[in-house]
Amino acid sequence: MLSSCWLWMGRLLGRLVVLLLAAGLLGGAIGYAYYSVKFSGPVSSEEQIPADEAALTQLIIEDAIRVVEQHRSDTRVLRDAHAKAHGCVKAEITVAPDLAANLRYGVFSQPGKTWQAWMRLSNGNAYPQFDRARDARGMALKLLQVPGNKLLGQAAEQDLVMFNHPSFFVRDVAEYRQNFAAQADGKKVLAFFPNWDPRNWEIRHLLIALQTLSPAPETPLATTYNSIAPFKLGPNASKYRVIPSPQGCPAYAPPAQNQDLPNFLRNALYQQLSVDRVDACLALQVQLQDPAHFMPIEDPSVEWDEALSPFITVANIRVPAQDFDSREQNLFCDNLSFNPWQALPEHRPLGGINRLRKSVYEAVSVYRHARNQQNPAP
Ligand code: HEM
Repeated sequence: MLSSCWLWMGRLLGRLVVLLLAAGLLGGAIGYAYYSVKFSGPVSSEEQIPADEAALTQLIIEDAIRVVEQHRSDTRVLRDAHAKAHGCVKAEITVAPDLAANLRYGVFSQPGKTWQAWMRLSNGNAYPQFDRARDARGMALKLLQVPGNKLLGQAAEQDLVMFNHPSFFVRDVAEYRQNFAAQADGKKVLAFFPNWDPRNWEIRHLLIALQTLSPAPETPLATTYNSIAPFKLGPNASKYRVIPSPQGCPAYAPPAQNQDLPNFLRNALYQQLSVDRVDACLALQVQLQDPAHFMPIEDPSVEWDEALSPFITVANIRVPAQDFDSREQNLFCDNLSFNPWQALPEHRPLGGINRLRKSVYEAVSVYRHARNQQNPAP
């Protein structure tokens, strides 16, 4: 009696597994077919600005200021995102000597030219946590002594702000507002399911968010950082990224770090640049939009297909061996501000998520600097 009952349950479980597998396969096939149709070109090469974007942006700024106050560390107010730095290091960015004429715009207009720059490497989270926590990792570059008017004023700087996943977890400002507000209410996965209507469920975006929170790389210089959102490159739209490019530097195998330590990414950087004194090499690349295909300006949750438009190296980056981990330099690093709009008009940010970043980065930066001046570092 007992054995036939077990057999019956086994058969039932087996059927359930087969049914679930079949449903999964069918769901995958339907999803694939749906996105093949939805994500087909052509697309606009111009921006399209929704009427409610400015009002939503104001609400997001208020939320962001609340977040920095919640997460302040002792008396210091940190960044609203990418609060924890592994370090700010000096870098040299040399425009490719043989750069094609159609890519020679802005800071890339002079082949062979070397820019001095600051590079800030960070974890994406809104407050510092152990490096072993799954997270996005950020790289921000500030090219110095760049002549010409900038979109944010006269500072002689060109910023490039990236993290190490190729797509963003929301498509536009409206979805960002809804998702950010839900996350602020403690919802994580549920932030992607705003109501009972399955047409509003953002399962693809949830998967992007889960993939973005990835394990730490071996060192902050051993992963690919993406602009994710598009930018002008002269008359064209483009995305950019920074990849490791070790062939230009002495061979170096980073020793394994103790990943139980809270700051092992900083330790890895320190080991290579300050103890072993080995330079690191990377390459800065751009990908041009081809509007004949599905390479949208207004939706950074969509990666542009590299088979249709491959990334091309526009500059080589050298991070020379150096000492960077001093109290003064860490404080200087915390006080730096990066903003994708700190840019020449030839590199103007494009799309809703970038338009949102303009006001939010500025507001948070002004706010945290003002608060930190009232309470200077000990
Ligand atoms: C394409 C998408 C994005 C990328 C690649 C990106 C990347 C980064 C990186 C790397 C940093 C750290 C910069 C540094 O080292 O100082 C940063 C900071 C920041 N991000 Fe983003 N981010 C993106 C989208 C957004 C969005 C949509 C918002 C909010 C509306 C946002 C808000 C901020 C804020 C407030 C800071 C701190 C600014 C400061 O206090 O100086 N980011 N982001």
